[in-house]
This record gives sequence, C-alpha cells and structure tokens, in this order.
Amino acid sequence: MGPLTLPAGALCVLVGAPGSGKSTFAARYPDTWRVCLDSYRRMATDVEADQSATPVAAEIQNLLLDARLSRGLTAVVDSTNVFPHVRAGLLARARYWQRPVTAVLFDLPLPTVEAQNADRDRDRVVPLHIVREHHQLLPDADQLHHEGFDAVHPISELLATGTPPLPRSTCMP
Ligand SMILES: Nc1ncnc2c1ncn2[C@@H]1O[C@H](COP(=O)(O)OP(=O)(O)OP(=O)(O)O)[C@@H](O)[C@H]1O
Ligand SMILES: [Mg+2]
Repeated sequence: MGPLTLPAGALCVLVGAPGSGKSTFAARYPDTWRVCLDSYRRMATDVEADQSATPVAAEIQNLLLDARLSRGLTAVVDSTNVFPHVRAGLLARARYWQRPVTAVLFDLPLPTVEAQNADRDRDRVVPLHIVREHHQLLPDADQLHHEGFDAVHPISELLATGTPPLPRSTCMP
C-alpha cells in the first residue's frame, strides 16, 4: 500500500507538534517533494534549531514552493505549521498558483507524541515544554477547512484505515 494519494500538483501542509511523525510521514513521498525549514536552517548554519537562520530558510522554502507549484509539481511542507499565520502564508501561495491545498493533521494524543519524541536519538529530542506548547496550538479539522484547506486528513483516521505512516527505508531528519 502506498502513502496517502495527493491531488496532482497539490500543496500538502503537515500540521503537528515536534515528534508527532511529520517527517516520517513525508518520507513516504519522493524526497524532491519535501520542503523543510529545519533542513534549510541546518544548511545555512549547521544547526537546524538556529532560529537566526529562519528568515533565510523561509526565503529558500518560498523559492522552492514557487518553483514547484508554478510547474504543477506536488510539494509537502514538513514543518510544525501550528501557527495560523504560517498556514495563511502557505494557503496564499497555493491560491496564487491555483493549486489544491491539503492538510495532514497530526492529531495524536499528547502522551503518544511525548513518547515518540523521547524515543528519538538524543540530539533530536525536543524539550518537553515546546512539544506541549505546540500540541496545545493544534487546530481541529473544522478550523483547517474554515481556513481554506480543500482537504483535511487527520492522521488518526489514516492510521485507522491502514495508510502506513512509516517510511519504506529510514526516516529523514
Ligand atoms: N506512526 C508512528 N508510530 C510509531 N512511531 C512513529 C510513528 N511516526 C513516527 N514515529 C517515530 O516518532 C519519532 C518522531 O517522528 P518524526 O521525526 O517523524 O517527527 P516530526 O513530527 O517530524 O518531529 P519534528 O517536528 O521535531 O521534526 C521518530 O523516532 C519516528 O520514528
Ligand atoms: Mg521532522
């Protein structure tokens, strides 16, 4: 069974707290589809958590999104995207290029997310208070529809229906 089938040329926005499985999910798709602020921060500074590189990382992400969406190529945004203004920027980009926009909502219970976060390699573990803050900010599916997402897929439903969240080989950072 393959990953969730996305409409051709869609912008797919992953929405979830650190440790909720976004990158694991994104790794089901071709790696060229994935845009990820953490990766660009790391490329700019060697440290993916270095927030001083967020502006340059956002510029790179926006350039890549425009390059892909303008060509009708699918893009998967692998960031937490828990803040409404961040989602609004992504929705505006998809609308500008007249592309369908899908959200995958990582609506897992906090204890599950905390456990997954704690089980990661030591240098990948995100401080607990940040996991909790982000989890509290999670929107529900109705809110995402209201914001303008054409389709919303709660990961709890995908897991229940057997859409595999785990990558074929290994999870990307
Ligand atoms: N469905 C799942 N079942 C069990 N473990 C999972 C599942 N999805 C992801 N994991 C594990 O949870 C941990 C966190 O996953 P992942 O790195 O994908 O989270 P993330 O949302 O991308 O976090 P971050 O926002 O910090 O990048 C990893 O060790 C991963 O192997
Ligand atoms: Mg990740």
